[in-house]
Amino acid sequence: MAMQNDELSKNLLHSQAHIWNNIFSYIKSMSLKCAVQLQIPDIIHRHGSPMLLSELVEALAIKSDRTQSVYRLMRILVHSGFFMKQSISSTRGYDEEEGEGYSLAPPSRLLLKEDPLSLRPFLLAVLDPVLIDPWQNMADWFHNDDVTPFHTTHGGSIWDLAVQEPRLNQFMNDAMASDARLVMSIILKQCTHVFQGLDSIIDVGGGTGTVAKAIAEAFPGISCICFDLPHVVNGLVGSKNLAYVGGDMFEAIPNANAVLLKWILHDWCDEECIKILKNCKESIPSKQNGGKLVIIEMVVEVDKANDELFESQLFIDMCMMTYVTGRERTEKDWAKLFLDAGFNDYKRTPILGARSLIEVYP
Ligand SMILES: C[S@@+](CC[C@H](N)C(=O)[O-])C[C@H]1O[C@@H](n2cnc3c(N)ncnc32)[C@H](O)[C@@H]1O
Repeated sequence: MAMQNDELSKNLLHSQAHIWNNIFSYIKSMSLKCAVQLQIPDIIHRHGSPMLLSELVEALAIKSDRTQSVYRLMRILVHSGFFMKQSISSTRGYDEEEGEGYSLAPPSRLLLKEDPLSLRPFLLAVLDPVLIDPWQNMADWFHNDDVTPFHTTHGGSIWDLAVQEPRLNQFMNDAMASDARLVMSIILKQCTHVFQGLDSIIDVGGGTGTVAKAIAEAFPGISCICFDLPHVVNGLVGSKNLAYVGGDMFEAIPNANAVLLKWILHDWCDEECIKILKNCKESIPSKQNGGKLVIIEMVVEVDKANDELFESQLFIDMCMMTYVTGRERTEKDWAKLFLDAGFNDYKRTPILGARSLIEVYP
């Protein structure tokens, strides 16, 4: 009996810990956002060696009575793998931190302001109140007729709001550009064959042109077009082999050898995707004449070896449900979509972590 009670208590406390962990996991995001806003990764990076708590507080130019709070913020961020504590020999330490300094763990390098592959703009966009508030309305949305929780919160689609609110337009474009820089740094190292033999390529929904620019620079023989809504590309200046074109992908897409769609289709439901894909098909030649789509998207699958990747696919799928009409798709979903839009064949190259590069042929 005593054993049974012991087991019951253990299970009860285990369940409580699991619930606590899930209730409070937003604190990981918010603590990270705070550290990034305070530029803690940049300060430690500039310091050049493990940094004492006292040195960090001094560099942050905040009152010394916040020292213990900085310690507690750093403690959770050490726990979640953004900073490391290392022994140092210094004469400056005066508190319990004496002899130990903070250094950057590898993910923090991608949060540095000046790092060319920084994901800082992506973090600040996703954790901005404009994108956080819709989560508060998700339960209401399940009962109402609004298109998305974003509509319930802001009264229109994310695309409509971006036209009216320059701040949203700017931080969304910056966020996507930061993601595009990281993705292109890998594609241009590992997947150049995808672009070989092309005369022209159009990046549909290409934002402010990070992807198109990278291709134009790496392949001076390819004419590149960055195609996006007018308010996104207006005023942007191209180069010898890069042009910006404003338009609506649901209306018509200019002609090219190949169409690139990075993180576009996951924004839209199947019917909308079929419309976009059919318009893409109209704008490219046959497979025999080199026509193809290059799609960069998630292919949802359980990855037993890497639960973090699978979990991030589930997170981003929930973002698509909350902000837009889209979803993340399995390989079966993608195959059906391509077939329904009139394409014949595809080849998937899973080289982008949670995402894949998919070449689709007419
Ligand atoms: C999630 S962002 C992806 C940006 C870019 N492809 C990337 O991954 O870095 C979606 C893009 O689609 C654009 N977009 C939305 N509706 C569009 C439309 N009807 N026609 C053309 N572009 C559109 C948005 O302005 C935005 O730049």
